[in-house]
Amino acid sequence: NARTPLIAGNWKLNLDHLQAVALVQKLHWALKDAGHEEGSVDVAVFPPFTDLRSVQTLLDADKIPFLLGAQDLSTHDDGAYTGEISGAFLKRLNVAQVIIGHSERREYHAETDEVVAAKVQAALRHGLVPVICVGETSEDLEKHGASAVPVGQLEKALADVPAGADVVVAYEPVWAIGSGQAATPQQAQEVAAKLREVVAATLGADTAAKTRVLYGGSVKSSNIASFMREPDVDGALVGGASLKVDEFAAIIRFQK
Ligand code: G3H
Repeated sequence: NARTPLIAGNWKLNLDHLQAVALVQKLHWALKDAGHEEGSVDVAVFPPFTDLRSVQTLLDADKIPFLLGAQDLSTHDDGAYTGEISGAFLKRLNVAQVIIGHSERREYHAETDEVVAAKVQAALRHGLVPVICVGETSEDLEKHGASAVPVGQLEKALADVPAGADVVVAYEPVWAIGSGQAATPQQAQEVAAKLREVVAATLGADTAAKTRVLYGGSVKSSNIASFMREPDVDGALVGGASLKVDEFAAIIRFQK
């Protein structure tokens, strides 16, 4: 397929701004030392909000071709919303992508499908690419199979999104996140294909053909290639393994 793979590192609540800069610098040099061909894969890092400025300054100064991402944003653009960060603020820091609806936000911050849909709208309003996370719990898996819940979540997230919008979809089975127990490549493919059908039905077939669908959940250097071989899996959303320079560099270099 013609889609450039996307390897995204979600750092979650890890690394302060000094550690963040050190990691990005080391990752860049590790890739250079390994002779990694820039542009063959899109690399994105999603640090905590307080790291964004420092990381953006480094990417700019050293011409490091990573995309900068944020882990969340407000549904609001401004006003009396203590503690919130707007899409406009992120855009001003050259943030390109924003994770929306991660299962940890759905679970610990009670983010409903409605909130997720409003955040997708907020991201698109400010020219940010939403990385829309969907996935089933182990209970959902037993009761409804793998795809029913993620398909329903994505339908709701995209309901009011205009055709042709630039989005990324991340399929993350909740039971696979941080558990060391990744889904099988077959399951990732089966659900990714169904999620692409949802994108086709809501945003159009052309957009679906261009939209990247990622797999996330216990991705590491030893299993990335098996996911990337699947035709509808266009990359990975990596948590724990994105905090280790050599491991994340090896994931980025999955083809080699
Ligand atoms: O956003 C990333 C995912 O939650 C995956 O986390 O790679 O630590 O399983 P993990």
